Amino acid sequence: MNYQLFVASAPGMEDITAREITGLGLARDDAAETVPGGVEFSGDLETVYRANLWLRTASRVLVRLSTFYATDFAGLRTKASRLPWERYLRPGQPVAIRATCHQSRLYHSDAVIERVLGAIGDRLSATVTLDAATDAEEAEQPAQLVVVRLFKNRCTVSVDSSGALLHRRGYRLATAKAPLRETLAAGLVLAAGWDRRAPLLDPFCGSGTIPIEAALWARNIAPGKARNFAFMAWPDFALAVWEATLAAAIAAERPDAPPILASDRDAGAIRAAQSNAARAGVADDIAFTCQAVSAIAPPPGPGWIVANPPYGVRVSENKDLRNLYAQFGNVLRAHCPRWRVTFLCSDLALVRQTRLSVETSRVWTNGGLRVRVAQGVIRS
Ligand SMILES: C[S@@+](CC[C@H](N)C(=O)[O-])C[C@H]1O[C@@H](n2cnc3c(N)ncnc32)[C@H](O)[C@@H]1O
Repeated sequence: MNYQLFVASAPGMEDITAREITGLGLARDDAAETVPGGVEFSGDLETVYRANLWLRTASRVLVRLSTFYATDFAGLRTKASRLPWERYLRPGQPVAIRATCHQSRLYHSDAVIERVLGAIGDRLSATVTLDAATDAEEAEQPAQLVVVRLFKNRCTVSVDSSGALLHRRGYRLATAKAPLRETLAAGLVLAAGWDRRAPLLDPFCGSGTIPIEAALWARNIAPGKARNFAFMAWPDFALAVWEATLAAAIAAERPDAPPILASDRDAGAIRAAQSNAARAGVADDIAFTCQAVSAIAPPPGPGWIVANPPYGVRVSENKDLRNLYAQFGNVLRAHCPRWRVTFLCSDLALVRQTRLSVETSRVWTNGGLRVRVAQGVIRS
């Protein structure tokens, strides 16, 4: 069977996700279409499994069931009741439905949800209940997420194959201040263009997300190998296909990574980072040190600096941060000439404080805040 897939990724990261998709051979270059908020392509059941298992920057993988015109509620219910819900829902399984309506006659999302819920019940000849809990770790029988999008009277209905968002790899149980989402950390390492041979250093590592994602990528460890996915609860879940996909992933892991160094001045953050790295299976691949950025001692390079330095939201923090960014720039010029640097920052004035020659055209959002990806080569 051929599945139409929509891989959702954070705004501004779609091109990176598209490169991952084609790089993994999930779709040919000309068959993966980048659209706002994600990437569209198609594939078989194994592609659905591999996309969930392997994509480092995706937030979820949706399977598109159908797109049809809907200008009245009766028509919406009839058309939605023709979709093959029995392939994605077990008897008695609750559903979570998310609906958005734009420039459409049907503009009341709650009413759309009610009709789609009714349509699922019509198809399954059963009463289906709504439930918001889609995460297998939080609910005994997690709800299957259904996504309905009405745009200019065209209704697209999709089911989620991921379950908990894909950034939840399972390793980051210990957190420090302002942790970065795993998908953004992976995106930063990919955007940096790290060659996975030269050293990589994060001098503001916090709970370790950037070096851990770097180590997972360097060792070709599938980010989803330790978690469950919504597709595992589908009635036609092909256990043998999944087991073969997972076994192939494990067989493709590499034993070593190049030097990955991570430091932070906060001892609690370093402890959290070390336990997260151990859970991710990469503790031996990362050298953690508790030290201020002023004390970094990079190995012979050049290599890559990839970091998420603190950026404040309170004005009172600005003076300290300006000093910290100026120091960051000075330290890099002194110790890392010709290294490449990639860092996230919400404030261009702080980026300028580094006096590094960086370009900042890439914009992402982190925790609702617009952030820039600053990238360049360090000149002494
Ligand atoms: C935004 S957080 C990094 C979060 C990290 N990427 C994660 O995913 O957990 C910034 C980190 O910089 C550290 N930090 C602040 N000033 C520092 C300094 N002068 N030297 C080293 N680390 C510093 C903080 O302790 C904090 O952990």
